Amino acid sequence: MNNKKKILKPLLHASIAACVASMSGYLSANEQTPIKIGMMLPFSGVYAGLGEAARNGLKQALKENQNTISGRPIEFIEMDTEAKPARAPEITSSLVDNQKADFIVGPVHSGVAMGMIKSIKGKDSIMIIPNAGANAATGAFCQPNVFRTSFSSWQTAYPMGKEAFDMGYKKVVTMSWNYGFGKESLAAFNESFTSAGGEVVKKILVPFPKTEFQSYLTEIASIKPDAVFVFFAGGGAVKFVKDYDAMGLKGKIPLLGSGFLTEGTTKAQGPASEGVITTLHYADSLDNAKNTTFRQQYQEQYGKPADLFSVQGYDAGQLIIDAVTATKGNTADKDALIKQMEQLEIDSPRGAFKFSKAHNPIQNVYLRKVVDGQNTVMKIAQQNLEDPARGCKL
Ligand code: BEZ
Repeated sequence: MNNKKKILKPLLHASIAACVASMSGYLSANEQTPIKIGMMLPFSGVYAGLGEAARNGLKQALKENQNTISGRPIEFIEMDTEAKPARAPEITSSLVDNQKADFIVGPVHSGVAMGMIKSIKGKDSIMIIPNAGANAATGAFCQPNVFRTSFSSWQTAYPMGKEAFDMGYKKVVTMSWNYGFGKESLAAFNESFTSAGGEVVKKILVPFPKTEFQSYLTEIASIKPDAVFVFFAGGGAVKFVKDYDAMGLKGKIPLLGSGFLTEGTTKAQGPASEGVITTLHYADSLDNAKNTTFRQQYQEQYGKPADLFSVQGYDAGQLIIDAVTATKGNTADKDALIKQMEQLEIDSPRGAFKFSKAHNPIQNVYLRKVVDGQNTVMKIAQQNLEDPARGCKL
């Protein structure tokens, strides 16, 4: 097999949900045409767990709808991005131009998102971002056919700056992987922390996806800040929180983060994660009927607890179902679909949300603390927070 073919081979063969025709009796030609949902997610590498959770959530939503929408079956096409931005244009173009996907759900990594957005501009597929937070995706590079069911970088880190200052921390070290999302998270924290009166005494950037943190932690120990604010996720978050404890910093210098630090990772982090305080637009403990049912069914279906990444995949599925139901199964008229999507309220496990003009969720951001391995809500840090969508002309 030549290299190019290998790269573009779907991870799993497309699967058309079975039994549909026999269940629904007579179907017109249009009704029998599958709705194509391409997935561009990391199924390998440091973000593999996040990609798997997003896929599980997406599939759970469609399964609850009998794997059909308005009588049409669903075809999933799964592509592994490996969280490598360089792969984005080629895979996007394969899904858009060759496979003619109606929807592309992806990605997790902000660098991949920016590559996808350039390739999908003006095309006939609709991109739904189930995680990547790059501000520009619903900011300066916003597009009519790009929606996000997750967050912007700004939304998840900005509320923590004020919270940290209110907790009495005046001098903070910030740290993240050195790529778009990490840098934007630190900038958003810095924006609200310094305007409250705090000072970021050192910013540390680590090459992505490096997980050797010891030398940076030694430096932090010598600076002795009041607190540390970080962005890491997936396997990197597990390693960072464990190293922070192992190096003796836990208990001496409080650890804060955007919520990815403890999202889907507390089991692997063990006692090292206890007491870590983060901000995020979801928490395991959210007390609403939708969250309870979602978490129960996810646990039954996949044998592990749901997390934010599965919620965002699930909501991408709900968005597709609700929009295509509203157009009575018609996916040919993409402008009509987009119009429906813009008006929808998504009944999410995080709480119902609507989209901003730039197609980003307007949502609560919670202050959370890890207690007995659970991300537990302390309070709402910011209610119905809308990203400023700087530079978006929609
Ligand atoms: C991002 O690259 O946008 C991202 C990756 C993992 C968690 C959160 C954001």
